[in-house]
Amino acid sequence: MSRFHHKHFSATKLVLFFCFSTVLGVALVANLIRESFSPSHIATSSNWVVRDHVPVLLFQNDSAIDAVPKGGNAEIAKKNGSKDLLPATFADIPAPNWHWEAMPSAPVPRLDGYAIQIKNMFYVLQGYRNLDHVHSHVDVYDFITNKWVDRIESPKEMANSHLGVATDGRCIYVVSGQYGPQCRGSINLAFALDTKTKQWSSLPPLPLPRYAPATQLWRGRLHVMGGGKENRHTPALEHWSLAVKDGKALEKEWRTEIPIPRGGPHRACIVANDRLFVIGGQEGDFMPKPGSPIFKCSRRHEVVYGDVYMLDDEMKWKVLQPMPKPDSHIECAWVIVNNSIIITGGTTEKHPVTKRMILVGEVFQFHLDTLTWSVIGKLPYRIKTTLTGYWDGWLYFTSGQRDRGPDNPQPRQVVGDMWRTKLSLK
Ligand SMILES: *[C@@H]1O[C@H](CO)[C@@H](O)[C@H](O)[C@H]1NC(C)=O
Ligand SMILES: *[C@@H]1O[C@H](CO)[C@@H](O)[C@H](O)[C@H]1NC(C)=O
Ligand SMILES: *[C@@H]1O[C@H](CO)[C@@H](O)[C@H](O)[C@H]1NC(C)=O
Repeated sequence: MSRFHHKHFSATKLVLFFCFSTVLGVALVANLIRESFSPSHIATSSNWVVRDHVPVLLFQNDSAIDAVPKGGNAEIAKKNGSKDLLPATFADIPAPNWHWEAMPSAPVPRLDGYAIQIKNMFYVLQGYRNLDHVHSHVDVYDFITNKWVDRIESPKEMANSHLGVATDGRCIYVVSGQYGPQCRGSINLAFALDTKTKQWSSLPPLPLPRYAPATQLWRGRLHVMGGGKENRHTPALEHWSLAVKDGKALEKEWRTEIPIPRGGPHRACIVANDRLFVIGGQEGDFMPKPGSPIFKCSRRHEVVYGDVYMLDDEMKWKVLQPMPKPDSHIECAWVIVNNSIIITGGTTEKHPVTKRMILVGEVFQFHLDTLTWSVIGKLPYRIKTTLTGYWDGWLYFTSGQRDRGPDNPQPRQVVGDMWRTKLSLK
């Protein structure tokens, strides 16, 4: 399935393709996330060196992962019947190396965490510690003192990952998401945190539960669209909005809005210059293994894309230039600086031969004047679900799941590392 076909994916094709891909999916069912989360696996099968403050994985042993071909160059070449070695980092785009400074790590490591910046305060929410443990609290970093300064407990009934989040500059809105660890169900509950009083309140529930819907506050309305449907895999197209002010709903029910042309979870949703942008994402996601009492995650066919959609006064979706590469898991990996959107890391399409997941290590710039993209720099490593902030000339990011080392872009360790670099945009 070439990437170029996906734009013309009709619903019927999707159904047919899904049937086909389920067969394919069986071959892909590998508990990749568990492997990448397992601390014992890391401890017993790797040698670490520290280079420029970045722990670099020099050797690693893939033997714990089965069901798909292993990731080494030799094996790729063998499978391809060729002596030529494919670079394992085939998907990286050349970009300037940036100098990154290590800052205090987050109190806990996080995958699929969320973040909201309000002035100098950076609120980091929920997320997985590992596949069997999820967080239910907010950690707060102060960009002025460069310290983790606070912890706020979340409502116990609030989702733990795959949220939709937005802010009005004082309150943080949290809509739907996955409740619990592994690949458990999604819920439709919505909440608001008043960051001044540190009190949570409830909002009217979304009409349906969603996984990681694109969410943003625009013209006084909380917009929620796309995401994954109740089975965690099927892309949703529905789009709803709710009038809100100061953390309170001004309406009893969500209003139906124009559906998004392409659905799925893990996209960046951004309001800039009074326009709403939806960037990147994917169709499909891990699903609970049928009959598993713990809703054990199993891998399914996914298509990652770099599509960019925009809504303006006309309230019709406009298709803009796509990202330089397909990119997903970037919900909170962005900031707006000097009429640009900056996006850090993510996941891209799987490796064409090994079918391995491939992380993204580039920093992208979307120019809001020309509506075009550039690749402007590199992160200290490839990483997905980063939480990104900007303060006083510094670009910050923390948390996510990083790669296995410079030569291996597959996901491994879940981290809470915090980094910053001086940003200088053109
Ligand atoms: C790597 O895997 C091989 C084969 O599964 C095993 O024999 C070897 O001991 C492993 N090496 C390390 C360092 O774990
Ligand atoms: C497979 O081998 C061919 C012939 O050597 C080469 O051109 C191609 O790039 C290889 N593709 C992959 C995915 O390894
Ligand atoms: C943003 O623009 C201002 C004014 O031109 C400039 O001084 C500043 O360095 C720019 N910021 C970045 C991060 O490039």
